[in-house]
Amino acid sequence: MITSYAAAPDIEVLTSSFPVPGFGFVPINAFVIKGSEPILVETGAAIESAEFMQALRSVIDPADLRWIWLSHTDFDHIGSLHQLLAENPRLRVITTFLGMGIMGLTAPLPMDRVHFVNPGETITLGNRTLTAIKPPVFDNPCTTGFYDRKAGVLFSADCFGALLQSVPQNAADLSESDLRDGQIVWATIDSPWLHKVDTAAFARELNGIRELAPTLILSNHLPAAPGHLLERFLGSLTAAPGAHPFVGPNQAAFEQMLKQMAAPA
Ligand SMILES: [Fe+2]
Ligand SMILES: [Fe+2]
Repeated sequence: MITSYAAAPDIEVLTSSFPVPGFGFVPINAFVIKGSEPILVETGAAIESAEFMQALRSVIDPADLRWIWLSHTDFDHIGSLHQLLAENPRLRVITTFLGMGIMGLTAPLPMDRVHFVNPGETITLGNRTLTAIKPPVFDNPCTTGFYDRKAGVLFSADCFGALLQSVPQNAADLSESDLRDGQIVWATIDSPWLHKVDTAAFARELNGIRELAPTLILSNHLPAAPGHLLERFLGSLTAAPGAHPFVGPNQAAFEQMLKQMAAPA
């Protein structure tokens, strides 16, 4: 089920809790940023496309959108991308050369409907000025987040996500241990290369995010978060390279899980 809530007076979150058997739920978010040129950040999961469109229509008329910020091309974020482009000829997709290239392998983006923004570059969309960033943790090489300096809003793409037992509408409502454990396990699943990083270099990356000092943090895979949680988030990521590497269930464990699923309740 996709639900919505306000993360700020002009930002709506569309969220779905995706079950990961044995591990909890991962929220899958998209964001509607209202303003003189409304922006949709991500377009929902491929498997929930119809439901996503319905939820989106409950918070904005898709015909009013001007931009899609596509952080990266994973299946949990491109669900309604082409339907939205078909419905609204004014919509353009902010991505990168690599993002457009990867989409070309499955559902090519019309070249006159894309707008490239590389990390470090700034784009003005109506009354908002967004600076693209490469988050310190990501699972797809084309990933770009952004920072809206005036509004103090950081969009971190998959970075800061968490596996959770239940998903509130505000990350501040999570216990400190649920947040930390959930973020660490998510980071080890989503970005297993973290175990190979030079920790001093990684700490410098994290410091770059610290210096932004956002007041609102929006992640694709975490409830919306007030800026005061940033130090906790950075603490989780600092611990992730030394955490246990994620290893999924093997065939025997999988068969056990299937038996449990098939057993009468
Ligand atoms: Fe991803
Ligand atoms: Fe994702």
